[in-house]
Amino acid sequence: MKRLSLCHTPTPLWHHAALDALVGCEVWVKRDDMTSGAAAGNKIRKLEYLMADALARGATAVITCGGLQSNHARATALVARELGLSPVLLLRTKDPSAPQPLSGNLLLDRLVGADVRLITPEQYRARAVLMAQVADELSARGEVPYVIPEGGSNGLGSFGYVAAVEELFEQQIAGDLPAEVDLLAVACGSGGTAAGLALGLARCPSVARRVAAFAVCDDRAYFERAISSIVQEARALDDSLPEPAPLDIHDEFKGPAYGVASDEQLDFLTRVARVSGLVLEPTYTGKALFGLSRLHDKPARALFLHTGGLPGLLAEGEVMAAAWARAGAGG
Ligand SMILES: Cc1ncc(COP(=O)(O)O)c(C=O)c1O
Repeated sequence: MKRLSLCHTPTPLWHHAALDALVGCEVWVKRDDMTSGAAAGNKIRKLEYLMADALARGATAVITCGGLQSNHARATALVARELGLSPVLLLRTKDPSAPQPLSGNLLLDRLVGADVRLITPEQYRARAVLMAQVADELSARGEVPYVIPEGGSNGLGSFGYVAAVEELFEQQIAGDLPAEVDLLAVACGSGGTAAGLALGLARCPSVARRVAAFAVCDDRAYFERAISSIVQEARALDDSLPEPAPLDIHDEFKGPAYGVASDEQLDFLTRVARVSGLVLEPTYTGKALFGLSRLHDKPARALFLHTGGLPGLLAEGEVMAAAWARAGAGG
């Protein structure tokens, strides 16, 4: 499998007693928020494979999609520029004609001069068709376009997380991660990371017994289908991949809506920052670690994959200010 080297790896493993106390079990954190500089997070691991494929096919432009504050779109735009490709981003927002605050991920998309096209949630439902139309438009003017699906979540992208589990295995052998990890917990937005982790654990079962994927949108049935289709695609590309390890999808902690966290979730992530210095954000990692802290059947030892998303937090000042007001200045 062709792969570019885009990430700073191995990413560190991090443990803090105050976080254990807050979550209610021993928690090791795999710091994939440190995979890079501005392009950091989980998406860049997928892009090592997707961008290698794009270059092998002679691409001159990449097209992808996501929400207005998509971490995936931002990582794709930054990496595309690094590789000399032109990024085109189809970003979902309620009212594309309204001025959009230039903050967080969108600020970085604009900074690298991505061709940002705002679309409505309704148009977004037909994103595959829209991206194919943009690809035709680019081809007609002599570009070679490469389309990356939402979240970089397809069979090829998921190899990024098969490789991440192999990295964890080496860290365990080196003594940086204890044995007997019950659960590998992760936020789930389009399913590619969870699919890759379950395939990786099948190859390296000592790393953790199972994956717990905390949905931040849609529901369990949706992700069961999405993840199983990504797994099938990956296994068709690499027939040495075994059946995936057990994976539980939790959709009971996703909060009020995608991109909207409950007061309880915001208070939790504020508390995490104040007792341990670990920075989560309200759309993905904050909800996933909150979910882990609320599991009925809590594991003795968990490994939490910190998937990044810091620019998303930096676009949420007003929402967070309300949480700080509740927590008080000293926390
Ligand atoms: C910060 C962050 N964490 C987790 C995820 C979820 O990863 P996946 O889309 O592979 O399910 C995403 C993207 O959706 C993300 O941006």
